[in-house]
Amino acid sequence: MATWSAPGKVFLFGEHAVVYGKPGIAVAIRPRVFVTVRKSRNAHHAKSPYIDSCFEVMGVKGSVYISSQIPSSSGLGSSAAVTVATLSAINDEFGLKYTLDDIARTAFEIEKKVQKGRASPTDTSVSTFGGLIFISGTQRRRLPVQNFHMVIGNSLVSHSTARMVEQVAEMKRKHPEVCNPILDAIEGVTLNALHHMGDPPQLGKLMNINHALLEALGVGHSVLSRLVLASRSAGAYGAKITGAGGGGSMVALCPKHMKNRVAGAIEACEARAVITGVDTEGARKEKDV
Ligand code: PMV
Repeated sequence: MATWSAPGKVFLFGEHAVVYGKPGIAVAIRPRVFVTVRKSRNAHHAKSPYIDSCFEVMGVKGSVYISSQIPSSSGLGSSAAVTVATLSAINDEFGLKYTLDDIARTAFEIEKKVQKGRASPTDTSVSTFGGLIFISGTQRRRLPVQNFHMVIGNSLVSHSTARMVEQVAEMKRKHPEVCNPILDAIEGVTLNALHHMGDPPQLGKLMNINHALLEALGVGHSVLSRLVLASRSAGAYGAKITGAGGGGSMVALCPKHMKNRVAGAIEACEARAVITGVDTEGARKEKDV
């Protein structure tokens, strides 16, 4: 029996633009998924195309038990975390000798297959390696970890990443003259943020710009707008949609002493707030239960 966990993630900058090879910055956060795998001749696990694919790719059979602190379809990377933790636990239980790079690459291939070609390697990289990650095309770079104080606001409005990605693709097809400059501007914001990672007030301003650009791309939602505005009024440095939008979650970057106030402002909008920070660890072996 082997138990592994993997963290969720939030995009600080660059979601949607990363689908077109532009850079993004994402960070591993504390809610985790825990997966226990046990060798067995009969596969026994919850029906999930991600888990089925993990066993298929690794060429083994086993049973799985999952315990998740990450709400699914909330833009916090739960499918990537499940995939990374399952691959890591299979690797350990069956002594397959995959490296972390192999796990990240295989998890990305599975996400891409299950999501019909629409996935960037961001979620799977962040979940595998932890910390702060800069992604650009197929390149990945770990950035020095910062002591960010973040509040996630889950709008409780469910959304489909595939549908939102398709919606942006359609805008790009129909109105490239409008859509492409927005994607270029998101790239500009991300590259600028890269030079201010140690300066949360400046990052907050850039997050606000990124949020406006995501709304211009058509992936906003009235509940997310409310949460973003409430967070800023409550003292956040900045706040934005995180992930695919159209529902799901937003993230606020806060001064340490403001995070409870910001969380309270989000909860007052009947959304769910989670105060979190950077999780420096990626996939991690846990004690067997
Ligand atoms: O909502 P999430 O966590 O699945 O994030 C989606 C982010 C996109 O850039 C829209 C798609 C992707 O695969 O990067």
